[in-house]
Amino acid sequence: MSCKARLLLGITGSVAVYKVCELIRLFRKEDIEIIPVMTPDSKRFISPLLIESLAQNRVYSDMFDESGGAFYHIMLSRGVNLILIAPATANTIAKIASGMADNLLTSAVLASEAPVLIAPAMNVKMFENRITQQNIDRLSGLKRFSFIMPESGELACGDVGAGRLADIQDIFDASMPYLLDNKLLSGKKVLVSAGPTREFMDPVRFLSNPSSGKMGYELARVARWLGAEVTLVTGPVSIKPPYGVRVINVVSAEEMKTAILNAKGRYDLLVMNAAVSDWRFDKRHTQKIKRNGSSLSLLFRENPDIISLASKSRKFGFIVGFAAETENLNDNAADKMKRKNIDAIVVNDISRGDIGFGQDYNEGRILFRDKTVVNIEKSGKRDMALRLFSEIAKRQKWVKT
Ligand code: C5P
Repeated sequence: MSCKARLLLGITGSVAVYKVCELIRLFRKEDIEIIPVMTPDSKRFISPLLIESLAQNRVYSDMFDESGGAFYHIMLSRGVNLILIAPATANTIAKIASGMADNLLTSAVLASEAPVLIAPAMNVKMFENRITQQNIDRLSGLKRFSFIMPESGELACGDVGAGRLADIQDIFDASMPYLLDNKLLSGKKVLVSAGPTREFMDPVRFLSNPSSGKMGYELARVARWLGAEVTLVTGPVSIKPPYGVRVINVVSAEEMKTAILNAKGRYDLLVMNAAVSDWRFDKRHTQKIKRNGSSLSLLFRENPDIISLASKSRKFGFIVGFAAETENLNDNAADKMKRKNIDAIVVNDISRGDIGFGQDYNEGRILFRDKTVVNIEKSGKRDMALRLFSEIAKRQKWVKT
């Protein structure tokens, strides 16, 4: 995904600073221009050379750098989409809260109108101190500032409690809505289903499929980046849900049906990406079934077709299904779209091993109700999600021009 965005990344003197390397890598992967601004103390923890190399941009730090002149702080913060301060010390937060401008970073914050996202990292006593909390409250009360709060756990100093820098992927995900200027789904409510379902035959055995949830999770992530309010209904997977998304965990198709049809309110879009089991066992044995030297016959019952029920419910403005096919891709998918009475279907060929189930890449085509077909060449699942939302937003005239 390529976005023409500028990020001013403020780096302050916390031991968590080593984690910023990974954060820079995530932003660079999306082609985001990074302007690293380091406080003097942060340079004692990490070499500006390392930051410079990863960010592919020079590090700014000195208020009175000879080449920049006296208006450096103003120049730096001009035209940035977001100022992200990660990690942010109690000291820097306190300075910003009281309007101080004693180094290049605090001056740039004061001299700019760009939104500021702050990821605090500090000792638990410092974080829980009333003074720090009051500073955070003060800034949170201003529209321009938001926080991605630290996690609880073991801290570098050995103490245990809140103060550990938020997860790097979460900081990245929290930043992206500010950096994508095409707010395609702004104000829209989107429900995404993801992952497999499990149909248990007894307490230890189940019927399922190899869905990893990667495509559905990328759909939920990107929908949020694009400004949507996202609910993710997910079957059991081993990946972490994206930041800022409401998650409803389910196991069976029946539970998924209830979660989707009973989700509060009306949704502009349902993206039914889950690989729902078409059958369940007629009976779920309460005790583990024991072998007895002969064969075992079990009866399957059809599961409800959730997407068809969703279509009948009129709860969703636009409904997209996914069709994992092994043959006659277009015909099977078109038939499914008609049968299920949905607005579009994304079809992919699961007979290929390099795309789809469990893979990082996908390829396919989107068939729309009006018979138009959009081919999506092999791309990362994130790019595929963006492409799908762009096509839908265009058709639904959600894109503001
Ligand atoms: O018919 P098939 O299972 O291939 O259809 C796939 C589409 O239908 C997917 O969007 C899937 O999430 C949805 N589906 C469903 N309920 C089922 C089975 C599939 O909503 N029981």
